[in-house]
Amino acid sequence: MSKQFDVIVIGGGPGGYIAAIRAAQLGFNTACIDEWKNGKGGPAPGGTCTNVGCIPSKALLQSSEHFEHANKHFAEHGITASDVKMDVAKMLARKDGVVKQNNDGILYLFKKNKVSFFHGRGSFVKAAEGGYEIKVAGAAEETLVGKHIIVATGSNARQLPGVPFDEETVLSNDGALRVGAVPKKLALIGSGVIGLEMGSVWRRLGADVTILEGLPTFLGAVDEQIAKEAKKAFDKQGLKVELGVKVGEVAKTKAGVSIDYTDAKGEAKKLEADKLIVSIGRVPNTIGLNAEAVGLKLDDRGAIVVDDECKTSLPNVWAVGDVVRGPMLAHKAEEEGVAVAERIAGQHGHVNFNTIPWVIYTSPEIAWVGRTEQQLKADGVKYKAGTFPFLANGRARALGDTTGMVKFLADATTDEILGVHIVGPMASELISEAVVAMEFKASAEDIARICHAHPSLSEATKEAALAVDKRTLNF
Ligand code: FAD
Ligand code: NAI
Repeated sequence: MSKQFDVIVIGGGPGGYIAAIRAAQLGFNTACIDEWKNGKGGPAPGGTCTNVGCIPSKALLQSSEHFEHANKHFAEHGITASDVKMDVAKMLARKDGVVKQNNDGILYLFKKNKVSFFHGRGSFVKAAEGGYEIKVAGAAEETLVGKHIIVATGSNARQLPGVPFDEETVLSNDGALRVGAVPKKLALIGSGVIGLEMGSVWRRLGADVTILEGLPTFLGAVDEQIAKEAKKAFDKQGLKVELGVKVGEVAKTKAGVSIDYTDAKGEAKKLEADKLIVSIGRVPNTIGLNAEAVGLKLDDRGAIVVDDECKTSLPNVWAVGDVVRGPMLAHKAEEEGVAVAERIAGQHGHVNFNTIPWVIYTSPEIAWVGRTEQQLKADGVKYKAGTFPFLANGRARALGDTTGMVKFLADATTDEILGVHIVGPMASELISEAVVAMEFKASAEDIARICHAHPSLSEATKEAALAVDKRTLNF
């Protein structure tokens, strides 16, 4: 006997669980299916983000940041902290605890919002009377029928061809978050977001970290001036990034792993390490969905093809998050989930791709929204730029963290903000002001005229807006 729902969501990551909650809030009888298992085989909703992504990586970044502060920065405050040690097992247990709080929180939210949760794998099956049903394969087999289906099955780490993850020596993001002891030498392939965040964690804890990057430029998607400033800071910390390499054979050795590569000058080199993290991007996940059987169209990257409204090739089947085009970010997935639930309710759900912020949670943090200076040049847009260094910000000096700057890019004629780029302390929090400003189509002058608390890092944002018009007050 099949169970009937208004909305069935397949996948309980940020895209899926948020879509399910919003659909339930809108009065739909909603089910959410998620297959993720915790260590005991029980449900662990929250997807990549909660289990092996955003949340655990930020927990480890925090622990390792504390360790680095105790080791390197307490002394300047007059604090003696001798014999500082990191108990890696305890750090990992804390991280697991943070993950569990989030898993439990989502299960609670499902109950609160009357979302029916099914633990298992959801797949499309052809129904005898035409159309399709959703089969759940879990502890129990269930068949669900829904008026609308939202697919939010996320993404998986991309493998290097011929080098499968064993999660012992060759690690994806999953294994990278479970390394039981600080490796002496850690290699990473790919200096994107994961490479820099995970490389930072293990460098802070004492590993000798080398990241091999295929592209000749560092963080190509980031504003060049900001990327350059970040690279300077990472170089100073001893986080080694080799650009423009071509990775050849990767072989497991007795001691760990050896990586043959050609450097930017074309010289053959070998990197030996205890562990290797492969962070070369992610691939959309439709494994086990049985998409082909019902004609759900995928593109050549394996992503589910959707239109601007997240409608797929099948009527009343929607898809959101990492499994579709666009940036692979939790908040993008969530916004799409909300928008789709609202569209199903006949409302005008909307996601503005121009104002999706990006954050890299390294130290210094890197955050941006809108277009970079190089993009504006390429697009032939006439713009004005203003920057303000944290060195001239009182709060940053009091914090003892004056690396970096805030940079504003505004239209040369209208002064509308086109992009804001930050490298420095708490960039992840500061960027929100810029997102709000851009959503409201604010001008740089608007931000320059708004009262900002003193002393605060946000004054650097105001000053960068003033700098657009060459009238900084504190620099
Ligand atoms: P996912 O979170 O991948 O969730 C998909 C869920 O669907 C999973 O639980 C999966 O088990 C389940 N599923 C798949 N197929 C089926 C099926 N057939 N039946 C049932 N269930 C199924 N983004 C940020 O914005 N900020 C960050 O700081 C950040 N940090 C990250 C750090 C790391 C190390 C990684 C790897 C990613 C990070 N991301 C971050 C990216 C973020 O995790 C993803 O963009 C986000 O999780 C995508 O959400 P989603 O709901 O589309 O998919
Ligand atoms: P990424 O796309 O950010 O970076 C991958 C890097 O690997 C690129 O610089 C690319 O040039 C390089 N690369 C690709 N193939 C290579 C090869 N064969 N040899 C050498 N270099 C190679 O991907 P990453 O870091 O794996 O992260 C995946 C996604 O997860 C991110 O794009 C982001 O969407 C999300 N994420 C977001 C975070 C955040 O918001 N703070 C944190 C971590 C991940």
